[in-house]
Amino acid sequence: MKQTTVFLHPDFIIDQVDPRVFGGFLEHLGRAVYEGVYHPESSHADARGFRYDVLNALKRLKFTAMRYPGGNFVSGYDWLDGVGPRELRPTKIDLAWQSSEPNQFGTNEFMEMAREMDWTPMMAVNLGTGTPAEARNWLEYCNGKGGSYWSDLRRSHGYEEPHDIKLWCLGNEMDGPWQIGHVPARDYAVRAQQTARLMKMCDPDVELVLCGSCATNLPTYMQWDREVLEYCYRDVDYLSLHCYVGNESDDTEDFLNCGLAVDQQIEELDAVCAFVQAKTRSKKRVKLSFDEWNVWYRARQGDHVDGRGKFAPPLLEEVYNLEDALVVAQFLNSFIRHADSVKIANLAQIVNVIAPILTQGDEMVLQSIFYPIEMFASRQNGVSLRPTVQGPKIESKSHTAPQIDASAILNGRELSVFLVNRSTTETTDVRVDLAGRRIASRLSAEIVTGSDPKAFNEFGKDPVVCSVPYSDECFDNGTLIVQLPPLSFYAGSFSIA
Ligand code: AHR
Repeated sequence: MKQTTVFLHPDFIIDQVDPRVFGGFLEHLGRAVYEGVYHPESSHADARGFRYDVLNALKRLKFTAMRYPGGNFVSGYDWLDGVGPRELRPTKIDLAWQSSEPNQFGTNEFMEMAREMDWTPMMAVNLGTGTPAEARNWLEYCNGKGGSYWSDLRRSHGYEEPHDIKLWCLGNEMDGPWQIGHVPARDYAVRAQQTARLMKMCDPDVELVLCGSCATNLPTYMQWDREVLEYCYRDVDYLSLHCYVGNESDDTEDFLNCGLAVDQQIEELDAVCAFVQAKTRSKKRVKLSFDEWNVWYRARQGDHVDGRGKFAPPLLEEVYNLEDALVVAQFLNSFIRHADSVKIANLAQIVNVIAPILTQGDEMVLQSIFYPIEMFASRQNGVSLRPTVQGPKIESKSHTAPQIDASAILNGRELSVFLVNRSTTETTDVRVDLAGRRIASRLSAEIVTGSDPKAFNEFGKDPVVCSVPYSDECFDNGTLIVQLPPLSFYAGSFSIA
């Protein structure tokens, strides 16, 4: 049988894992807001229309930072449309997804939900058709204590206390030619800097995310980031990056190696931040906000992205399988391994739209990707340990990757390890060696696996891709040995002596 050893050392710490890397993203898109989390017609809805079967399932994923309201949607959004008495709110056409937007859910509904769900709100302002002043007004509406026009407007809407939203994105994917209001880097940088300065004058405690490159295949990749960062370095705290991957060529081996591309993208963008920090002789290091990531390729064209003027059309409704779940686990492993540079990350998205949960009327299904996220969710806290992986590699069309993708979090005397077996055929013994410290006993462990990489969960049937408890570990003189079947993701927590 093949064997891999993961060498760890309790003192080889990358950084504290920022809990915000386990974030999510809720956009006014398709059936994400309407029917997804807000569905007054559902038998699962409370008096406010919040859909509690979905929200209770989402609670299991313990999302931290929640990005809202878009996405491409935000680049044409007027936040004022979504506040105040519902009967006075306008229905508008959202041009990004060609859909009808009734604005029945907006800032205050989102904030009520965020509070109940323990989400850290992460708002995106409109820098497509919106102005710096509109962004600043929205911030004052949310965070002002009262005694000013915008904060008193919030109070008149029934929200006496400030929402106190500290994390804001300066637009969305402004480097993408499809983005409403897309402009060259220099123009965006000017817009973003003006907005950032107004916002920080209004509330000096806000943290701001600058739009970086949203895809590595755009011709402006890296150049855009250098230019906007050079202009705005002093005014911002994070640079955003996005990544969607897919198995378009139906090559499972190659798809399962794509975690390497995620590592590379993070390291490249972090290098731009280091370059601009050095060039501007700044003491501050701008960190990364990986604020959209997921598998997305099947529902990416034609009717999947065109709402044809309808309300809550079924857009971007990817059905996820086992191989997708193993790729999702690799994204999270990569964020943990890059704990020193990636401080925020948001799974795009949370329900119906490229999501771990799908609804159909009052029914709901937990998709394959739900389970790895849940396995990380119960192990979010601690420091990331640098793993050195020795073992066989898998050569595929685009990458040569270690067969085992690993990350580890140490929380006091509790060690959690996260292991993906990328092989489609080989069972492997994985030894985890903690440099002389004894891995003493298992606290909890689960595995997601199966023989068919294309297996997926269906409405009304028992799930075929889900996590199950695992208890077959061996301990050899303080070293942990886990036998991993092909196509598997394992997460385990252990006490260390
Ligand atoms: O998450 C779906 C879309 O993907 C977002 O609206 C956009 O930012 C990205 O292109």
